[in-house]
Amino acid sequence: MSNLPLLRVIRFSAEIMLYGATIVSWKSPSERLFELHGPLPLPCAMARKPVRGGIPVVFLFGPPAHPEHAKLPQHGFARSSNWSWDNIIKEEGDHVSVTLTLDPTPSITAVYKRQFHLRFVVTLGENDIATELFVQNTSASTEYPPDFLEFQALFHNYVLAPANEVLVTPLQNLFYFDKTESTEEGKSTAKAEKRAGVDVRKFTDSVYENAPGSYEVTWPGGGVAIKTTNLKDVVVWNPAETGSKMGDMEQGGWEKFVCVEPGHVRGYERVAPGLTWVGKQVISVIHNARRHQ
Ligand code: BG6
Repeated sequence: MSNLPLLRVIRFSAEIMLYGATIVSWKSPSERLFELHGPLPLPCAMARKPVRGGIPVVFLFGPPAHPEHAKLPQHGFARSSNWSWDNIIKEEGDHVSVTLTLDPTPSITAVYKRQFHLRFVVTLGENDIATELFVQNTSASTEYPPDFLEFQALFHNYVLAPANEVLVTPLQNLFYFDKTESTEEGKSTAKAEKRAGVDVRKFTDSVYENAPGSYEVTWPGGGVAIKTTNLKDVVVWNPAETGSKMGDMEQGGWEKFVCVEPGHVRGYERVAPGLTWVGKQVISVIHNARRHQ
């Protein structure tokens, strides 16, 4: 297997990199829904940088706040590690799926001491794509108190959409933390969302807590629905012009996407030794998308 393998599932035109388990593009029969907004995967992976686009897998969110995560980079190590694939493509009805896995390696263990096994399952259909992250605590400890694995997880979906026109619903009346004010956990104040449809016409970095789990991302002539399981929060992010300072985003790249990122990122999931947590999302194309202004 080469250093930078790229798995292509031809039937539905999805491309998944083993580097970061990142789905770098998905094309339903009618629409292209993800794309990159920065360097191509190859230079990106060679530079050990996460992919700026598609669906990076985030295991441990944001700048580290948990004492056990202090040595980790922003958004953890999963999106910049080489995952394994068993070369199996499963077909079930009109869907196909592949499973990628990640276990501790010496370079991960150098910065993160916990025992874990991550399994990432991508299932493709004509009109939908599902991602599931299984997080297993592989600690063999039988001591009391249990050796809990505490983590956060998130699917960092870059949805291809005109940023000036896209709306995300239904987030009205939810509390959110505005990270454009402060990225430090606890320093941004909770605000109540007043908008029926959330736009990203200006720099937006909002963490909605205890969100409904089902969202619509719509723009004139298009849209996707995102339905989640076990992912209680959602982040809406677009850097607007601050994207020009990011170094790995093409000029004007921020005008072409909105990140709608379901996850568990406020507080931590806790999994006891031997047990597994699962977070899932299904993204589907909305035909004849309605507008919520
Ligand atoms: C979002 C965060 O999930 O990801 C933002 O809420 C962050 O604060 C953004 O800027 C992009 O992160 P990164 O590490 O890929 O530049």
